[in-house]
Amino acid sequence: MPFRPAGGQFRYNGLCGMKTVTAIYPGSFDPATNGHIDLIERGSRLFERLVVAVLRNSEKQPMFSVAERVEMLRLCTSHLGNVEICDFSGLLVDFAEEAGAGVVLRGIRAISDYEYEFQMAWMNRRLAPRLETVFMMPGEAYSYLSSRLVKEVARLGRPVTGLVPPLVEERLQARVQAELGQTQG
Ligand code: PNS
Repeated sequence: MPFRPAGGQFRYNGLCGMKTVTAIYPGSFDPATNGHIDLIERGSRLFERLVVAVLRNSEKQPMFSVAERVEMLRLCTSHLGNVEICDFSGLLVDFAEEAGAGVVLRGIRAISDYEYEFQMAWMNRRLAPRLETVFMMPGEAYSYLSSRLVKEVARLGRPVTGLVPPLVEERLQARVQAELGQTQG
């Protein structure tokens, strides 16, 4: 039986009993795939405000600069009014506090993701006990998708249509061509 408030008309709005919160969705997004966009859309329906945070990480060799990744994410999520895109460095828990987020949103695709995700979630809980990590599944069609595989396929000359938003596909192909030009020139 669904919960019915005394004396009130029951209307199911999908958020019955939940507090409205800001969630932060952190990641590398190098580049954003359709799986990321799917998760952002799901998160934007569940949370009042969703902050997508691109990590500025000097250790990795990214294909796209942070500014490029932020711009692509902005363009691909412009239809979602409650989604903000930004970048961050340092500890995620510190940035979450700065952004006023009570929830960290992460996508889980397969069992193989669990170990890495649990390690991060436990560490984040140790650092900030009141910050909750919420895992969501992307649509089934994206369960095998990763930025790493998309880049590999593009670099090896196959189209990535349907795996990334059209705008990302265009920029990915251009970047691959530029990389090829550098190695041949
Ligand atoms: O898309 P990714 O690369 O799996 O995202 C990883 C990310 C950005 C969520 C993670 O590396 C992160 O939160 N880095 C910030 C540094 C930090 O807080 N580290 C300690 C907690 S695990």
